[in-house]
Amino acid sequence: MARIVAGVGTSHIPAVGAALDRGEHGNAYWAPIFAGFEGARDWLASIAPDVAIVVYNDHASAFSLELTPTFTLGLAEVFRPADQGYGRRKVPDVAGHPDLAVHLLERLVADEFDMAQALEMDVDHGLTVPLSVLCGTPAAWPFPVIPLAVNVIKYPQPTARRCFRLGEAIGRAVASYPEDLRVAVIGTGGMSHQLQGERAGLWNPEFDRAFLDDLTADPERLAALDHVTLVRDAGSEGMELIMWLVMRGALGIAPREAYRFYHYPASNTALGLIAFET
Ligand code: DHB
Ligand code: FE
Repeated sequence: MARIVAGVGTSHIPAVGAALDRGEHGNAYWAPIFAGFEGARDWLASIAPDVAIVVYNDHASAFSLELTPTFTLGLAEVFRPADQGYGRRKVPDVAGHPDLAVHLLERLVADEFDMAQALEMDVDHGLTVPLSVLCGTPAAWPFPVIPLAVNVIKYPQPTARRCFRLGEAIGRAVASYPEDLRVAVIGTGGMSHQLQGERAGLWNPEFDRAFLDDLTADPERLAALDHVTLVRDAGSEGMELIMWLVMRGALGIAPREAYRFYHYPASNTALGLIAFET
């Protein structure tokens, strides 16, 4: 049977990808940040998952603002890095896992989560930057990826609790897949940040640290956070943290926290990374 063995929550900062792509990650600004990624990279390499489900948001790259599904599963054999205005990132294409993805689709819809299906979908920094953070610069990504895109950029977003429950359903779906696969679930985005309007540049380390603590200790408190509280305390783009709750819901009760890193500011956000083993 397949089994969820690990979970990661991580920011997905475009400038982190650009620093790596341009070879600037050793400079004074980025070196402490990339040093913070090293422990997570070593840990994930030691876990060596067979496949990862990456829960991320598309930033109007694959989906236009005219067509915005709430939850989308990527069923393709391969996903290309999206062109977000500067050409495609020169990182490897992302291999999919259509067989497990179709199984998830069937089980989740049967479990009353009405997922949209993507047979072709470019993946933007929400997915490729966390792969760079966690895997560095390999010639090919070390595991196939099932993208799960969540709408967080356009009202109305799904609730934090809906995301947590979706994660629980993913846990059940993975456990009913007959092949022996070791699966990681990665939730991306956050932590506190706001890119627009009067509060642009906001970050809130107090909120973020409590979020990290309770992701381990009391995820139900986080699942109960309403959107107004999230936007007030974490900023409009801090809403991306609901995707970490999909990851946490998939891990079941009391996973072991294996690694944590927090640093602010990085680009326009507070950067967080947390890793769990089941
Ligand atoms: C930044 C962070 C994001 O999550 C994002 O999607 C875009 C930009 C930033 O920190 O600049
Ligand atoms: Fe984002």
